[in-house]
Amino acid sequence: MITLYQILFLFILTYCYKVNVYPFLYKNKFCFLYCLRHIKTNLVFYIAFATRSGNLDRHEEMEELAAKFLGVESAMAFGMGFATNSMNIPALTGKGCLILSDELNHASLVLGARLSGSTIRVFKHNNMQSLEKMLRDAIVHGQPRTHRPWKKILILVEGIYSMEGSIVRLPEVIALKKRYRAYLYLDEAHSIGALGPGGRGVVDYFGLDPRDVDVMMGTFTKSFGAAGGYIGGRRELTEYLRSHSHSAVYAASMSPPVVEQIIASMKCIMGEDGTTLGRDRVQQLAENTLYFRRRLTEMGFIIYGNNDSPVVPMMLYMPAKIGAFGREMLKRNIGVVVVGFPATPIIESRARFCISAAHTKDMLDTVTVPPSLYNDTISMCFLYQQTASLSFLSKLP
Ligand SMILES: Cc1ncc(COP(=O)(O)O)c(C=O)c1O
Repeated sequence: MITLYQILFLFILTYCYKVNVYPFLYKNKFCFLYCLRHIKTNLVFYIAFATRSGNLDRHEEMEELAAKFLGVESAMAFGMGFATNSMNIPALTGKGCLILSDELNHASLVLGARLSGSTIRVFKHNNMQSLEKMLRDAIVHGQPRTHRPWKKILILVEGIYSMEGSIVRLPEVIALKKRYRAYLYLDEAHSIGALGPGGRGVVDYFGLDPRDVDVMMGTFTKSFGAAGGYIGGRRELTEYLRSHSHSAVYAASMSPPVVEQIIASMKCIMGEDGTTLGRDRVQQLAENTLYFRRRLTEMGFIIYGNNDSPVVPMMLYMPAKIGAFGREMLKRNIGVVVVGFPATPIIESRARFCISAAHTKDMLDTVTVPPSLYNDTISMCFLYQQTASLSFLSKLP
């Protein structure tokens, strides 16, 4: 028997617009109806540890589905994406281990690394020379003072960086980790369900083997429109984490409607719902991303990141423009995240657009209005004029 609370909860999950919900769930009737049909318990929350009575059949089914989706031996889920990083990294590394972390990694990765007690070294964002130098130094010099070899070297990277829109240079990272026998931890919070022909993330995007990534991490908060996070990899890894990770041993397991939501959206992306809705939405997201990025560039705005990244940071530079831009967008009914110091360097304030498959061309065109509109209201002309005035340079002999 489904309760009114569950129906309300599912409605909010599926019908309320969230920033970051790249291909799915926004107004996705299939997911809403699937959840209603399959929900097997009348509970909204299930307050029990996963290791005790908290693991229901549907939790196991979800984890098996996630493993199949990721192309790995085994996967396990956690109630919170942030805690997936911050509580599992300390279970994997500790004293005598070295963590090499990208300078723009998310706070949850940074916290996890700090809590682990490992030595942390930070390499320049997506810079393979910087990473290789640190790996080489680590192998040559070993631990400080004793010069003993590091017990373990773990590289922490993200699939898509949420403030930069850049995609990790995964083929090169994998080549380096193999050459220097390090381990790789990949956070796919923003890329899973959003990148690659099958929506399977950055590994799919580059056509790589998921087994080359030792720890595949991601969240269900973005593309799946649910909540929580997962870790995927070899069976030994998940079995070890089930008994050693604080978020597995001490945290309550996922709420049943959220589990249904994850199963529904994942089946949808995988095409296991008997429709092409999932594939179509992943394709639509790729098209929307290219269109939106091209329009902003044509208008003369400076945007960051990879062309295929649905996270589109548009540079505002001056901190004073952050609030003005946000307010102007709100007047036009456009939800946009504006970001400034300390999340970005002080002179690199920006607006971050997160493109969704649910955006129509008309919606995208509302943002890409003639630049004069921005110039009049927020004085963004300097970006436009600068590019316009420089464009004659390409015509010079
Ligand atoms: C890269 C990255 N990892 C982890 C998280 C934490 O996920 P959650 O919001 O599901 O707790 C986020 C959140 O935005 C993120 O961007």
